[in-house]
Amino acid sequence: MKNKLAQIKEDVLAHLAEAKELDALENIRIKYLGKKGELTAVLKGMGGLSAEERPVIGALANEIRSLLEQEIDSKKAELLKKETEERLKKEVIDVTMPGKVQPKGNLHPLTQVLDDIKDIAIGMGFEIAEGPEVELDYYNFEALNIPKDHPARDTQDTFYVSDNVVLRTQTSPMQIRVMENKKPPIRIIAPGRVYRSDAVDATHSPVFHQIEGLVVDKGITMADLKGTLDAFIKALYGKETRVRFRPHHFPFTEPSAEMDISCYVCGGEGCRVCKGEGWIEILGCGMVHPKVLKTCGIDPEVYSGFAFGFGLERVAMGRYDIDDLRLFFENDTRFLKQF
Ligand code: DAH
Repeated sequence: MKNKLAQIKEDVLAHLAEAKELDALENIRIKYLGKKGELTAVLKGMGGLSAEERPVIGALANEIRSLLEQEIDSKKAELLKKETEERLKKEVIDVTMPGKVQPKGNLHPLTQVLDDIKDIAIGMGFEIAEGPEVELDYYNFEALNIPKDHPARDTQDTFYVSDNVVLRTQTSPMQIRVMENKKPPIRIIAPGRVYRSDAVDATHSPVFHQIEGLVVDKGITMADLKGTLDAFIKALYGKETRVRFRPHHFPFTEPSAEMDISCYVCGGEGCRVCKGEGWIEILGCGMVHPKVLKTCGIDPEVYSGFAFGFGLERVAMGRYDIDDLRLFFENDTRFLKQF
């Protein structure tokens, strides 16, 4: 029996020396130390030994068992280490290789200009309001003091969805929506798409963008309108820019004005861009008509306000020297990439 144990020990050590993979190692363990393994069989057969022999052989068998277990474990650790090393060698990456360059997109020029306008307005204490492009006739016209047969409707070739529903022709309906829902003090700008049934050319598009402004509080005067717009335009076009106001008419403001800015190309000398005028028309504005305030449930004896509205495309065309409105909507990446 002693010989048998010695033989097992030698066999196992020999096999271990040759084992190159974890699988092979496991097979050796099962063959000798497993439930039906050879060493286990020896231990099971000890019942037939004499009382003197039994403890001696038992001790020897256990000693060999624990030795072999240790040997298998250390061989296992060695193989695992080797395997890891090989895998790491295979999976090595060269971090100095040039990466794949991802083409970078950029914001649409209209978005960039609008973001600047929003930043300036927010800095001046305005909030941003947004509303529907499919609008009730009531908000787009009626509540703005433009009744059904008012001539002002003709100047805005309207897309009618139904008798009472239009694609908004201006962002001014947002004045009504805001005043209906909010008590003064009100300070908002409302940017968004507007629609007019115009034929497409270099200066016309059936869809374009406006930005509406509205301020309502106690004691708001024309001086607030002028000061606010002057500060706003200087932030957008530069400190040296001057503004001037010309009397005008809008049904929803009284008095009304159009505002020009000194030409951002020639500074007022007169050039191709301002057509020799030195001035560029930029927005419509005025004091909110008392009738409009009243329609929204705001008492014109207590509150007053001013409003303004202007086109986003015109600002962007001026800033980037773009001479054709269509470029904004064609999404030609050769154009868009330049901003
Ligand atoms: N809604 C006008 C338009 O589309 C622009 C405008 C003029 C807006 C005067 C205003 C304003 O708020 O006070 O032509």
